[in-house]
Amino acid sequence: QKDPLVLFMPSGKRGRFPVGTSVLDAARKLGVYVESVCGGRATCGRCQIEVQEGSFAKHKIISSYDHISPVGPKEERYAEVRKIPEGRRLSCSAQILGDLVVDVPQDTVVNAQVIRKAATDRVIERNPAIQLCYVEVDEPDMHKPLGDLDRLKLMLEKDWGWQNILVSQHLLPDVQKTLRKGNWGVTAAIHRDLEGSRPNLIALWPGLHNEAYGIACDIGSTTIAMHLVSLLSGRIVASSGTSNPQIRFGEDLMSRVSYVMMNPDGREAMTKAVRQAINDLTARVCAEAGVNPNDILDAVFVANPIMHHLFLGIDPTELGQAPFALAVSGEVHTWSREIDLAINHGARVYMLPCIAGHVGADAAGATLAEGPYRQDRMMLLVDVGTNAEIVLGNRDRVVAASSPTGPAFEGAEISSGQRAAPGAIERVRIDPVTFEPKYRVIGVDMWSDEEGFEEAASKIGVTGICGSAIIEVVAEMYLAGIISEDGVVDGSLAERSPRIIANGRTFSYLLRDGEQRITVTQNDVRAIQLAKAALYAGIKLLMEKQGVEHVDMIRFAGAFGSFIDPKYAMVLGLIPDCDLAEVKAVGNAAGTGALMALLNRDSRREIERAVNRIEKIETALEPKFQEFFVHAMALPNKVDAFPCLST
Ligand code: FES
Repeated sequence: QKDPLVLFMPSGKRGRFPVGTSVLDAARKLGVYVESVCGGRATCGRCQIEVQEGSFAKHKIISSYDHISPVGPKEERYAEVRKIPEGRRLSCSAQILGDLVVDVPQDTVVNAQVIRKAATDRVIERNPAIQLCYVEVDEPDMHKPLGDLDRLKLMLEKDWGWQNILVSQHLLPDVQKTLRKGNWGVTAAIHRDLEGSRPNLIALWPGLHNEAYGIACDIGSTTIAMHLVSLLSGRIVASSGTSNPQIRFGEDLMSRVSYVMMNPDGREAMTKAVRQAINDLTARVCAEAGVNPNDILDAVFVANPIMHHLFLGIDPTELGQAPFALAVSGEVHTWSREIDLAINHGARVYMLPCIAGHVGADAAGATLAEGPYRQDRMMLLVDVGTNAEIVLGNRDRVVAASSPTGPAFEGAEISSGQRAAPGAIERVRIDPVTFEPKYRVIGVDMWSDEEGFEEAASKIGVTGICGSAIIEVVAEMYLAGIISEDGVVDGSLAERSPRIIANGRTFSYLLRDGEQRITVTQNDVRAIQLAKAALYAGIKLLMEKQGVEHVDMIRFAGAFGSFIDPKYAMVLGLIPDCDLAEVKAVGNAAGTGALMALLNRDSRREIERAVNRIEKIETALEPKFQEFFVHAMALPNKVDAFPCLST
């Protein structure tokens, strides 16, 4: 008679175990992550699982409720105090009696598209670097002069299997007090990131401590975004963002590098500012979720190279000029106290590796989230900011580059450009016969040709055009024949329509008349052409490196990608030809990557390996870049065709 077979879902891991083995032990032996703080004492409630009923033909496993031990007294006691959801069991108490299919509830579901449109929801399997371990330590004995901490370490080895534990020095002064306060029962937070490395005791609480949190943070040059996550349940308990206060030192990345070069205290001031903003944001998410910042034990960061350096206190001057040398390109492990984070003193910090001098840990985060290296087909991943970070590849080979798109896509350098905020035009259509426009404004829930629009719009004021609408309006102008393939506004149309107006020696398109005139000038069209040509040329260079004529799927990361309509991006030739159904916005993919690395240390190894394999292409050194750029100045492109647009 064979031992019962147990299959864990969703991992699919399985094995045979003697009757009477606890489900938690079986999970441990198979390397299936099931949380446990109390060490199987049925007091923490963290080890919950679900048992499937019925056959599971695919895996030839029959599972029914008599294949698992009935609820025993310990589990009943727990259930009296804290509710266990219907259908769930404590895996430390439930014993295997027959073949079983066990569901490990996965609570972390990230809506990758935080902003507007819903895109892919994903489930992150948990395997965090932090584990809470409750132990009961022997009381001191005059005949055995072993120190309190040493007896604690012995128990951590005996009950939890942690050997050779390193103890964070900052805990030493309070160890004795904590042990006595807990009446010799304490919860230890153990950090182990790299398999095989020595575990670290990083925090200690008296009694059973059932809370451990982590933060996943994306430090953008304009916005800092953060998730606060329970490391025990995997649930995101709060998410928020704030603007990067470094803006006052320089709007874009290069101006911040110049600030450092020109001011002796510049680096320090910017490091301080960004850390302060992160601490304020942490306090805010903690307050929102009712979490004590002292319970934050792990923090994962992604950032572009310059933000990455400034956050870590590294002078970014070298990144301002060729050869764009990073002080450190690999992943960074540090402690919260080393970088002044206002979370637990013993908390660990992990920063994803950078891909290259201009392709940062944020691109690595997006790469981890979208996984071009996991695909059979060719995936193009673009994150458009003032610098576009571009990754192209499949499981055989991945290449990456950055391209200097400038701030035009974000509404800067555009005469009526503004950030996406109430009052900004966000959608535009132009009648190809009359050239009359209709548009939508953020904060007004209707098109401009609908009744009541003016009244609603007058309440907030129509102030400008945001990045998504700039793409649309230029594309619509092109489709209506107002601008030529070379991007010239056709002045001869001024006779036909009052919408085409002279502006010195060139012509503009009048999008909205009134108190605040909103026009699209020849210079605006040029700025968009330059930005899109830079983006396209970067992509094209990578396609050439890969030896491909077209890409199979496109993923737009970042806020910009969430707002633009892929069709218009293709009409203007921002992106190469691709089946429109395969072009998707994936929101803050960099932040999703940080979250994955926070909740699963295998993801850290995965992206470290992937980044090592990514080939970095420096656009500035590639003679072909200029040629691609010139071709891409035309709308949509001088030489490349876009057959998917006509279907
Ligand atoms: Fe704590 Fe099961 S491990 S309740």
